[in-house]
Amino acid sequence: MITKPKGTTDITGNDALLWEYVNSVVSNIMTAYNYEYIRTPIFEMSELYHRSVGENSDIVRKETYDFKDKGNRNLTLRPEGTAGVVRSYLENKLYASPDIKKYYYNGTMYRYERPQTGRLREFTQFGVEVIGSNDPIIDAEVISLQYHLLEALHINNLQVNINTLGDEESRANYKEALLKYLKPHINELCEDCKERFKTNPLRILDCKIDANSEILKNAPKTINYLTKDAKDRFEKVLRYLDLLEVDYEVNPRIVRGLDYYDHTVFEIVSLDKEETSQSVLGGGGRYNKLIKELGNKDTYGIGFACGIDRIVNMMKEIELYKNVQKEIDCYVMYVSEEEKLHAIEIVQNLRLNGVVTETDSLNKGLKGQFKEADRLNAKFLIILNNEDLKKGLVNVKDNHTKEEEKVDIDEIVEYIIGNL
Ligand code: HAM
Repeated sequence: MITKPKGTTDITGNDALLWEYVNSVVSNIMTAYNYEYIRTPIFEMSELYHRSVGENSDIVRKETYDFKDKGNRNLTLRPEGTAGVVRSYLENKLYASPDIKKYYYNGTMYRYERPQTGRLREFTQFGVEVIGSNDPIIDAEVISLQYHLLEALHINNLQVNINTLGDEESRANYKEALLKYLKPHINELCEDCKERFKTNPLRILDCKIDANSEILKNAPKTINYLTKDAKDRFEKVLRYLDLLEVDYEVNPRIVRGLDYYDHTVFEIVSLDKEETSQSVLGGGGRYNKLIKELGNKDTYGIGFACGIDRIVNMMKEIELYKNVQKEIDCYVMYVSEEEKLHAIEIVQNLRLNGVVTETDSLNKGLKGQFKEADRLNAKFLIILNNEDLKKGLVNVKDNHTKEEEKVDIDEIVEYIIGNL
């Protein structure tokens, strides 16, 4: 038997119901915040990720799915959504009007990681990118959108871990201080950190292997190397988050794994879950330099992404979702060919009016159809028989109260809708 590739999932049954639910909450809340849906390709030119996510990021160094197509182009399956959205913004000159663009997306991403629960090679993110404003009101909006969306999914005990990397000058000051501090300790850190010391020293701070080492705990903090402007900016973000009732904690260890960030960076976790790298439900930050680097447009950007696979795993632990099951409105039952012809019409009429309806297609007898209706949790059964049909009537049974009633065949849709 052919099996699915390592690190991918099949989403079926109740999990699929939860996914559909998440998708509907995402699109409703994005619409309420006035974010526009954007869809970009699943593969892009490899260079895009080298220049945005960064040559020295773990993602580009170890995790991308790269391939050449028949035209000898170097392509990469997208490991994240930000780069593609920025590329699209520049390529399609979406900056022409208006000045601020707010996008949301929802799609599969690909990273060649070591698969485990909550860490997959093909996974799905929803996320937003706001391009054009540097006002801290947008940092706060994006963070609160992510926070309140997860709250709407009943994920409790949320906490945003927030930090700032500051502007270019702050970052340069900080990097210098960090290198100076780490130099005498470098041999005590893990092999990856030794490499990061040369290529991407900030990443040492969120190393999962050395997470509890005293060396990292006592490392200099970005907050102490900020320019006055960067500090004022961050304080405003925090003040606005207070107004928006977002639970946050300033955590100097949050630096994020992608190279494009500056100023605000954040990750969101549920404190109900033991802290591991897979307990992070989403993360994001500002990338004010990225758009200039990828194109000629000097403008600002900020966004976040959340992993739906991780969110659904979390939802499955919540009481409310434990007994989620499929339900339909109506099951239409028949036996003879004559009754079947009526069934076809009735089913279609109900469906066209938005009533979730099913009927038999396996030649089951009445007993089998009753069983199937129960399996589908049908609220109403419409039981057709020739005698009633001749009088223009159908037999409707409320499958919960078990009450039965004869209804005029021409009024069946109104009757069902009125009683749902
Ligand atoms: P990220 O932190 O790499 O950020 O990913 C965001 C979220 O995607 C993670 O918090 C996690 O929930 C989910 N995720 C990441 N990798 C995996 C995986 N292998 N399996 C399952 N879920 C995963 C970004 O991708 C940035 N583009 C976010 C952003 C948008 N920054 C600015 N704008």
